[in-house]
This record gives sequence, structure tokens and C-alpha cells, in this order.
Amino acid sequence: MKSPKKPYVILSAAMTIDGKIASKTGDPELSDEADWKEVHKLRTKVDAIMVGKGTILKDNPKLHIKYFSHKGYYRIVVDSHLTIPLDANVITYEPALYPTIICTTENISSSRITLYQARGITIIQAGKGVKVDLSRALEALSDMGIKKILLEGGGTLNWGFLEKDLIDEIRLTIAPWFVGGKHAVSLVDGEGFDKMSECPRYHLINVKKRENYLTLNYKRMRS
Ligand SMILES: NC(=O)c1ccc[n+]([C@@H]2O[C@H](COP(=O)([O-])OP(=O)(O)OC[C@H]3O[C@@H](n4cnc5c(N)ncnc54)[C@H](OP(=O)(O)O)[C@@H]3O)[C@@H](O)[C@H]2O)c1
Repeated sequence: MKSPKKPYVILSAAMTIDGKIASKTGDPELSDEADWKEVHKLRTKVDAIMVGKGTILKDNPKLHIKYFSHKGYYRIVVDSHLTIPLDANVITYEPALYPTIICTTENISSSRITLYQARGITIIQAGKGVKVDLSRALEALSDMGIKKILLEGGGTLNWGFLEKDLIDEIRLTIAPWFVGGKHAVSLVDGEGFDKMSECPRYHLINVKKRENYLTLNYKRMRS
């Protein structure tokens, strides 16, 4: 059977030496300016940036580009219950340059959807489950002409993608912090696979060392 079409997905994250992407209190400040510049450069090369609702609630990111000239891109939020605040930066900050799409489920009332559409948000309804059906959402995004997505977490959404083997490439910066904490968000949270033989494998295609930072680039082995 032919697999459904989907955009190419690059997971991008900065993590501590021990694999955390924020501290236990949610402090996400682990990149330095040079790493941010690299991430922003990568943002200029994709059609969309995607984050989970948890990242919107905790960090309220603008998901914009500093440092480089560019033509903008879509911001995509995965939010099963369609509850992100209407004054979140992804809704209010420069919507013409970075139009926002929210992927939600088919369980949402039309009045709730109208509330967001009235703010210029495009709504994609994917699946009738408790969580957004990510494969279906990717198919709909592909139908909109989105070919390449930068997945910027957090840990729960990263697991949603990994579980369904939807990650084609990984760009991972290891920052020189060792933060610990079983409640600190990891690069990938969720349930995890039972065995190594069940999980997707990746090719290490590039390693870059810069002062105290290391950036690793992996591609999915599909064969
Ligand atoms: N260092 C880095 O590079 C980096 C990058 C990004 C984020 N972060 C950090 O990550 C933290 C947030 O991570 P998080 O794990 O709390 O939240 P998250 O991954 O951003 O968002 C998770 C939420 O997405 C929604 N969702 C909808 N459908 C889903 C699906 N099929 N699979 C998975 N999630 C789905 C769920 O909420 P609903 O069910 O309510 O929809 C879920 O709770 C923040 O502290 C942030 O600073 C760090």
C-alpha cells in the first residue's frame, strides 16, 4: 500500500548533556546566540514551523525570524481541544508574515472554530480521537502545498511524531548544561518504545563542534 503523502519533517531542538529541553521549572534557555542564528537560518529554508500546545502555554513563542531576510512561513500549533489563548504570540504577532494554522480534532464545535478563524487562523481537523491524528494532519498540510516542516517540540509532540515514524531528519544541539530532574521535559517524552529493534533508526550525517556546543544531524534510514 502506498504511504500517505506528507511533508518532509526535520526535528530541531537544543538539549542538555542529559537530554532535557527545559529545566524542571520550564526554563528553556539553553541555546546561545550562535545556536539561535543557526536555528533561524534553518527556519528560512522551510515552509512551516510546528510546535505543541505545551510549548505555546509555557513559552509563548513568536516563532519568527531574526538575523535573516526571508519571505515568512506558516506557524503550526498542534492543539487537540483548541484552547490556546487568543492573545498568544503565534496568533497576534505579525500574522501576515507568519500565518498560523492550528491542527485540532473533528470533535471541536463550529462556534469554537469560528472564534479562531475570525483571528485569521486556518483550522485543520484531523481525526476524532482524543489527540490530533498527526498523519492525517500532515496529509492535509501537504495538500496545502507545505513541503518541509521544522518540528520544534516539545517533548510530548516529539513523541507523537516518533511513535508514528514521521521524523525524516534531526538537527540536535547539545548544550553544555547538566540539569537533571525526572520532571524536566526530555527531548522525547511520552511512552517510548519497548525495544531498540522497534524504534526508527537514523544515520549520523554531520557533526559540528563550536566552543562548548555540539550540533548533530541525522537522517532516517528507510529501507
Ligand atoms: N530546547 C528546545 O529546543 C525546546 C523546543 C521546544 C520546546 N521546548 C520545551 O518543551 C516544553 C513543552 O513540552 P511539552 O511536552 O510540555 O509540550 P508540547 O510537546 O509542546 O505539546 C504537547 C501537547 O500537544 C498536544 N497534542 C495534540 N495532539 C498530539 C499528539 N498526537 N501527540 C502529542 N501531542 C499532541 C497535547 O495537548 P492537547 O491534548 O491539549 O492538545 C500535548 O499535551 C517547554 O518547556 C518548552 O520550553 C524546548
